[in-house]
Amino acid sequence: MQLNSWFPFRGQGFMGQFSIAIITSIKEEMLGVKTFTLTYDDGGVIPYIAGQFITFVFTHHGREERRSFSISSCAALSEPLSFTVKRIDNGAYSRLLTDKAAVGDTLFTTGAAGLFTLSGHTARYEQVFFFAAGIGITPVYSLVKTILHTEPNKQVVLIYSNRIKEEVVFYKELNELLTEFPDRFKIEFLYSTSFDLSRARLSKSLVAVLLQEYAAVPHDKMLFFICGPFAYMRMVIFALEEQGINSEQIRKENFNTNDRQVIQAEPPDKSTHLVTIQVNGAEHTFPVQYPETILQAAKKQGIQLPYSCEVGRCGSCAARCTKGKVWLSYNEVLMDMDLKHGSILTCTGHPVDGDVTIEV
Ligand SMILES: Cc1cc2nc3c(=O)[nH]c(=O)nc-3n(C[C@H](O)[C@H](O)[C@H](O)COP(=O)(O)OP(=O)(O)OC[C@H]3O[C@@H](n4cnc5c(N)ncnc54)[C@H](O)[C@@H]3O)c2cc1C
Ligand code: FES
Repeated sequence: MQLNSWFPFRGQGFMGQFSIAIITSIKEEMLGVKTFTLTYDDGGVIPYIAGQFITFVFTHHGREERRSFSISSCAALSEPLSFTVKRIDNGAYSRLLTDKAAVGDTLFTTGAAGLFTLSGHTARYEQVFFFAAGIGITPVYSLVKTILHTEPNKQVVLIYSNRIKEEVVFYKELNELLTEFPDRFKIEFLYSTSFDLSRARLSKSLVAVLLQEYAAVPHDKMLFFICGPFAYMRMVIFALEEQGINSEQIRKENFNTNDRQVIQAEPPDKSTHLVTIQVNGAEHTFPVQYPETILQAAKKQGIQLPYSCEVGRCGSCAARCTKGKVWLSYNEVLMDMDLKHGSILTCTGHPVDGDVTIEV
């Protein structure tokens, strides 16, 4: 196996730290959008669950960088891991993938992760609404397929916004699912350029109308997944909360982690505390003092923890605090329900009020 010379991964000395994946097929969905299928370089299946993303590591201008892409395939149907990339003008990694990547190329990865999934506590809901905009369809497509094929008692509604019909990713595949599951699956395609302004750009009032129109069960039996631009997700969340939906019923996935201007809050306690981390069967204990985060302190000790954005926006670094208290300076991914179950982010987490133990 040779790393292609154009890929900026060669000879960076981090091969040993990450897994190597090989591109086994590439499908052009439309201009500027491609789906890549991967296996490990020994041909092994890369494990994942619906709704997760995969993170790649590369060097750009001599710096280690990471990018995550939601998985668009369905593990429940034994599909090998695929992810779908939209080319971003001037984007470092999306352009490499969509313009240059070829079958047989290798990528460094930290594997699949993420919380935008159907975990155990989502089982009690009977109707699942998905709100997706643009390329935000990728994890949603995987989740929709998974529910339709594995949870026969759940109703599924997809509200999918795009500028025009020609930009709808997975249009044919979604319509095939409609034909296959006519009693359980409904789709509302919205086009922001539509002349029918009552069904064009998604607004708070349109969310309320669609919720009423598609409701098949009482509000407390509904679960919501949202993926799209930041302002879109915020609007949908506000709209749902105005309709009496509890925040515990809403999950969101944020694709844009580039804006690093995050609010710098200060912890109630800035003393040094010991952090014990259990990761990959090993246990490490090290001191952490504000302003250093748990992730930064672990990196300094040479401990490999998962991460991607490092600003509390992607969820790659999520872990569970089993003892003590971790204060988060920023969190855009963990919902109240996750926090209640002890989930924390190591990239914005600081130990407070004593020593802590964390499981990764
Ligand atoms: C959890 C997660 C899942 C993701 N899943 C997908 C996916 O399934 N498919 C996909 O195509 N992308 C996905 N992304 C976005 C992806 O990780 C990259 O951010 C995106 O491809 C741009 O990277 P780049 O290196 O090409 O651009 P960069 O070099 O990082 O940025 C170049 C320019 O583009 C702007 N930019 C960066 N990201 C975006 C964006 N998402 N939208 C608009 N402008 C942007 C920046 O502000 C900058 O001006 C996901 C991100 C996260 C955190
Ligand atoms: S690395 Fe993205 S939330 Fe921590």
